[in-house]
Amino acid sequence: MTNPTELLHQRYGTSAFDLDIDNVNAAPGGSTSENVDWNGCLTTLLSHRSIRAYLPKPLPPGTLELMVAAAQSAATSSNLQTWSVVAVVEAERKEKLSHLAGNQAHIRQCPLFLVWLADLARLTHVAVGRGLSHNGLDYLEMFVMATVDAALAAQNAATAAESLGLGIVYIGAMRNHPEEVAALLGLPPRVFAVFGMCVGYPDPANVAAVKPRLPQPAVLHHETYHLASQDEAITDYNEVMKTFYAEQQMNVSGDWSEHSAKRVASPESLSGRDRLREALLHLGFELR
Ligand SMILES: Cc1cc2nc3c(=O)[nH]c(=O)nc-3n(C[C@H](O)[C@H](O)[C@H](O)COP(=O)(O)O)c2cc1C
Repeated sequence: MTNPTELLHQRYGTSAFDLDIDNVNAAPGGSTSENVDWNGCLTTLLSHRSIRAYLPKPLPPGTLELMVAAAQSAATSSNLQTWSVVAVVEAERKEKLSHLAGNQAHIRQCPLFLVWLADLARLTHVAVGRGLSHNGLDYLEMFVMATVDAALAAQNAATAAESLGLGIVYIGAMRNHPEEVAALLGLPPRVFAVFGMCVGYPDPANVAAVKPRLPQPAVLHHETYHLASQDEAITDYNEVMKTFYAEQQMNVSGDWSEHSAKRVASPESLSGRDRLREALLHLGFELR
């Protein structure tokens, strides 16, 4: 097992590392009431990195079903289970999905591509079957609920896959052309592909590094929220990420702040997703 201190250092970048973890037990079993035991689940979570290069090796039978069982073990709003997932393995369909998602090669390369869906069609069907109205489904609240449900389920599946030695990368670019994706997957009205997920064995010749995150003072607030006091953490993070971009030979100009601000600068920087509302209306979500 990788050392917890090392994992935490990787997650935050050494220079910005300022966590009090003295009372974390690296070796489970020796805990006292003042100690926190490290465990394999934490190792899996903290070791996450997106994988964009896969071996042409099939997944063991049962992997998909285990991932879906993990996904279904996530909490779900009111137990409504307003999500579904389409598992795509056919080369031709992956090719088309890749094309719709900016030609991302890893979609073609991975042995399994999952498309995670916000699904209000099932509840529509259930209500109609019982002769009940389903007007509540037309509200933005239900769309948000279904999207949150899909994300929680997907992340559980991602962690399950990673715990099995597999790698994943989310594909938000599934939202670049929502109607075409819906047609390709045969989605009924009120079903929307929130994101995709490549799954497969990471190519060891192309190992991705753990990407540092913002120091905790930027994201963790005690009692009330504070924006201005995040500046120091963001400045530290910019330094960490400049080093990371250089070490990983990533083609990123400037630091994290500059890169991130550019990503949200205009509708054009949304890769076609600036028309998402219109697409959702076409897909049967009224978003009232
Ligand atoms: C919802 C979502 C959509 C994403 N979409 C893409 C994508 O289309 N293509 C891609 O290569 N990475 C995508 N990513 C991966 C992020 O770029 C990645 O998680 C982020 O840079 C942090 O890196 P890490 O996952 O290696 O820690 C997406 C991640 C999320 C959560």
